[in-house]
Amino acid sequence: MVFSPCLRGNEEFSMSKIKIAVLVSGRGSNLQAIIDNIVKETLSAELAVVISDQADAYALERARKHNVPAVHVSTKGFKGRRDEYDALLVKELQKRNVDLVCLAGFMRIITPTLIKAFPNRILNIHPALLPAFPGLHVQKKAIEHGAKFSGCTVHFVDEGMDTGPIIIQAVVPILDKDTEDSLSERILKQEHKIYSRAIQLYAEEKLTIKGRRVFMSGNDDKADQFLINP
Ligand code: GRF
Repeated sequence: MVFSPCLRGNEEFSMSKIKIAVLVSGRGSNLQAIIDNIVKETLSAELAVVISDQADAYALERARKHNVPAVHVSTKGFKGRRDEYDALLVKELQKRNVDLVCLAGFMRIITPTLIKAFPNRILNIHPALLPAFPGLHVQKKAIEHGAKFSGCTVHFVDEGMDTGPIIIQAVVPILDKDTEDSLSERILKQEHKIYSRAIQLYAEEKLTIKGRRVFMSGNDDKADQFLINP
């Protein structure tokens, strides 16, 4: 068997595994959950590369610890040239034959250059129940708005900001005593579960997009399994 430095689950089945890339900017707890699920073989994918726009992202450390190629693609010199930056990302991804790109705390707005290179092959995790609260600081916004529930969403990425077809959501109640930190922490726990689940469904080719809706074949996913009690 040819040795590859990429993180795989069960080597025997690696030939049929999809290759994923995770794009990050910071601490990488969602990346870690994906790595842990690959190691536990609850996620059948090969992590081909982790790419960060920040040299000091802790997520890069997490990747290196697991012998996953960790690549810093510097944004220096790309101010106002996001397309050209994304063209560099596409190059990195294509040279590793990546099937699916997973944004996990990647703090850049991606351009059509990347989206067109990976049509319906880019996922994102967002810490709110879309379409409510797109954008940044959304846990704080949900509390300030007086929402009683928030949660997290895994969706396909389209050209809008947090607008793509929704794959899975988990609901998290907002408690009277919640602060931005306490709510973020509870939501994050659910993010760690649903992101790998969505990737696994993609890997098993169980997702079909029809208009804005994403259908799961096999009918083995019940939305209410993601309704979380505090
Ligand atoms: C998560 O809350 C994710 O939903 C958002 O950015 C945060 C990244 O956290 N897009 P981490 O780097 O995965 O810990």
